[in-house]
Amino acid sequence: MTVKQQVLSILEMEKGRVISGSELAERMHVSRNAVWKAVKALEAEGYEISASSGKGYCYLENNDFLSAQRICAYLPQKLQNLQIKTKKLVTSTNVILKSEAENGRFETDILLAEEQSAGKGRRGRSFYSPPQSGLYMSFLLRPQIPAESAVYITTAAAVAVAEAIEHVTGKKTEIKWVNDIFCEQKKVCGILTEASLDFETGMVAYAVLGIGINIGLPKNGFPKELQNIASSVMDGYSYDSGLRNRLAAEVIKRFYEYYENLTKKQFLHAYRERSFLIGKEITYLLGETQKCATVLDIDEEAHLVVRFLDGTVEALSSGEVSNVRRKTV
Ligand code: BTN
Repeated sequence: MTVKQQVLSILEMEKGRVISGSELAERMHVSRNAVWKAVKALEAEGYEISASSGKGYCYLENNDFLSAQRICAYLPQKLQNLQIKTKKLVTSTNVILKSEAENGRFETDILLAEEQSAGKGRRGRSFYSPPQSGLYMSFLLRPQIPAESAVYITTAAAVAVAEAIEHVTGKKTEIKWVNDIFCEQKKVCGILTEASLDFETGMVAYAVLGIGINIGLPKNGFPKELQNIASSVMDGYSYDSGLRNRLAAEVIKRFYEYYENLTKKQFLHAYRERSFLIGKEITYLLGETQKCATVLDIDEEAHLVVRFLDGTVEALSSGEVSNVRRKTV
């Protein structure tokens, strides 16, 4: 743990109590100057710490942020080495981790933000990411897998999120191939995996897995265009960081469980069980092309097996599904 993380952890645990700089320095075996610098860095990240000269530091009650410390407290020993960072406001957690990876910096494993000003969705769309009501997180991964297996990252993540939501909130979830999570027929989570390929080896060089979960309803409601399709896993408006930290930890724990043995596809059964497309008629979109089809199954490769109107059967590995309807015959 860095000095900053240790200071935060002590102040958080003793929320409301004024702790002197020398007590902190003694407990961490560092200088008072190092403590002061750590406090300044925390304040720069948005934490409110009252520092009264001569008395010490106090973590104010109204700090209500996602916290790497609190998330780690829910994680098992084997995941304690993960480098988890939290930020108050970012453009997009995916964009930041992608740019770090492009610059050869693989120092952050997971980045979480309270708010995104330019959250990215699939197919060039934006992802609405207001503060206090959502969980916006990205994982920087270096899986040793061939390009065609990259879809398993998204599939594993979809199951991890679905299970985590059910565990924390008790609500039933469903999955819409390939990466949307639904509660009560409305989308509550989207996943965007962006992978960079090594063309010589055909392997994934790195992948950024981005997960956006609507936890509570945004203070001003969803924008008009989302009102009929999006919802949140909880019914109320903004949510304190307690629930968000706990849900983040559950997602992380469950995702890494599947990710450790990604090619064993231990998530596939749970994915199929929650998939609400099987048996439905759909419109399949790939680029500019749209085709009607009936969904027959999700196969062993997590592909969507469909029968098109001309009778041909295909296992789809990418694209998007819209206009889901009950089969008419
Ligand atoms: C979709 O539903 O189209 C995918 C949405 C993915 C949103 C998440 S939020 C965290 C990460 N950062 C982003 O900019 N996007 C992903």
